[in-house]
Amino acid sequence: MSGIEAMKTIKLGMCGLGTVGSGTVNLFAQSGGAVNRRAGATLEIAHIGARRDNPLCDTSNIRVSRDIFAVVDDPEIDIVMELVGGTTVAKEIVERAIRAGKHVVTANKALIAEFGTELFELASEHGVALRYEAAVAGGIPIIKALREGLAGNEINWLAGIINGTTNFILTEMGSAKRAFADVLAEAQALGYAEADPTFDVEGIDAAHKLVILAAIAFGIPLNKNAVYTEGVTRITPADLAFAEELGYRIKHLGIAKLTESGVNLRVHPTLVPQSQLLSRVDGVENAVLIDGSAVGPTLYCGAGAGAAPTASAVVADVVDIARELVADQLPQVPALGVDPESIRPLELVSMDEVVTPWYLRLNVYDKAGVMSRLSSILSDHGISIEALIQKPPVRGEATVAVVILTNPAQQANLMSAVAQMEALESTTADIMCIRVENFKA
Ligand code: HSE
Repeated sequence: MSGIEAMKTIKLGMCGLGTVGSGTVNLFAQSGGAVNRRAGATLEIAHIGARRDNPLCDTSNIRVSRDIFAVVDDPEIDIVMELVGGTTVAKEIVERAIRAGKHVVTANKALIAEFGTELFELASEHGVALRYEAAVAGGIPIIKALREGLAGNEINWLAGIINGTTNFILTEMGSAKRAFADVLAEAQALGYAEADPTFDVEGIDAAHKLVILAAIAFGIPLNKNAVYTEGVTRITPADLAFAEELGYRIKHLGIAKLTESGVNLRVHPTLVPQSQLLSRVDGVENAVLIDGSAVGPTLYCGAGAGAAPTASAVVADVVDIARELVADQLPQVPALGVDPESIRPLELVSMDEVVTPWYLRLNVYDKAGVMSRLSSILSDHGISIEALIQKPPVRGEATVAVVILTNPAQQANLMSAVAQMEALESTTADIMCIRVENFKA
């Protein structure tokens, strides 16, 4: 008997046949042979549960049920791929699959960020694996890299572009001068955006992913309420252009930093120097920069959303589980990299205490003394100005844009200065405030 003939068959069930599901069907169809060799088993998608067909993939040789739970209840299925999304039906699928003794692969960041602790515990009680590589940064194997590849390091901080949709929007608004709504509609059509795109543009999706990365990086509990979250909806083409002029690009980042007083988790638009690779990661690409105590900074970059890249991560998880099934040794690595009893909470550093340089864009009347009043307020707060731009007034307009780049300032202090500047009669609109980060990389 040849090695191939001797291979065990592992039956896969899929719940959900949207962008990621169809991508996964196609990926197995296109590279089944190579994937099987890596798995050491024949992987067969045997049953799909989907409310409707998806013309983007061929399921003619696969059993398809309209009842998604028929897959979970199918005794033939060894591994269930949960690709439904959301935290209601998806949670029920995962729990029911685990209770039925099936291994689970999910692409669902909201589910892991919110319910990961209880689901990992349930999986451990039932001796099955629950894998989630596709939940963070699409096709980049960042979970494996952080959890296993960097196991010898204390993680000092990490910063990432972890939402493809917002990166696509900022890139297109900046380079092609396209309108926000137009680019968002394209991201939806391309299957990048969440079912509810406010999750992308308000930073919720990135916050879910940051919660997962931080839990692995620092050995802390998954806590979706720990992240300060700001989206990209207030960023204007003018901000993108001013940032460029100052030598920066605006990226929507998830940042997790370990400090002496605890851990700080935040998602917000950020000015990143053009000299840093992170600032040049464009379109739907994601990138995560991680500073490890031994290795220093390392950057992981690639497609962060879309059918095939996300399927790549789903298939990798299936292969991992298959390998363990073949060896009859499950699971090899704890879900968050450390055993649950070793997970320890850390103090959360308040945003008021966070120190960064700031980009401030003001709209002010073009009158004598305005600039001196603004700079007095900043100097009264001990905040020094790093750079300043004022453009000549547009013909017929009484106001001008002023952009100030500050030296590092504590947020509470900066906000007090901003409130005073906004209270001036000469300031005609809310001040746009964006944090700046100069990562040592
Ligand atoms: N909506 C997500 C994004 C999909 O744009 O990154 C991948 O998680």
